[in-house]
Amino acid sequence: ATPARPWPYPLWFAHRGAGRHAPENTLAAMRLGASLGWRAFECDVRLSADGLPFLLHDDTLERTTDAAGAALELDWAELSLLDAGGWHGRIFAGEPLPSLDGIAAFILRNGHALNIELKPAPGDEERTGRLVAQAVRRLWGEAVHDEQAVWPLLSSFRPEALAAAREAAPELPRALLVETLWPDCIDIAERLGCSAMVLEQSAITPELIGRLHRDGLRVLAYTVNDPGRAGELIELGIDGLISDEVDRFVPAD
Ligand code: G3P
Ligand code: MG
Repeated sequence: ATPARPWPYPLWFAHRGAGRHAPENTLAAMRLGASLGWRAFECDVRLSADGLPFLLHDDTLERTTDAAGAALELDWAELSLLDAGGWHGRIFAGEPLPSLDGIAAFILRNGHALNIELKPAPGDEERTGRLVAQAVRRLWGEAVHDEQAVWPLLSSFRPEALAAAREAAPELPRALLVETLWPDCIDIAERLGCSAMVLEQSAITPELIGRLHRDGLRVLAYTVNDPGRAGELIELGIDGLISDEVDRFVPAD
């Protein structure tokens, strides 16, 4: 039996905003995913030096932008000028790093759901959890109140970031992200008031899903790109699948 608490999210989430066929964590990626029928998106969110939440996976800029060095050392005025698309292909040259404000507008306008992975630079966990939670409350609050939208699910590998998000905006749903189960991680998720755990897909067993569901926690899996494995997890009662394969899977719900 799955937990009784309401769970308003679609089963399928496009990983890094559908970022395999378009540059990850950009609006272009989410647009592409949406055009293929995806209605929920996972993205990685961190802070600029001046505390603006924006989308970027790595601590450094070189893999996915035309700049180098630590993202945390630049203000948003500088980050917003970077090219976050040209590395992927010429068609995406000039695609900007998106602010969380920009992504919120796209998600809300289209009635999509969002999983915000809090991806703080080392040492920036508390500030990231707090400022992202405050931004989410400001950006989504009215639409959620009017029942046109669901809150983004805030997830993180860093319990400190989730604790700070809870302190700043306790109403936002939280999930602890875990690559391999570490001692006490389930207890920590419960103590943080999480609604879910997001687990690396190979760590998931029938027993684990059963235990988490009995404890009242939903279970999501990343990164599920194999159709056979997706089918097994659905059979086991998984609550969410995060995938890169936006043109292979066609989300039905
Ligand atoms: O949120 C699940 C997944 O995105 C975690 O891994 O490295 O792709 O952010 P990563
Ligand atoms: Mg992520």
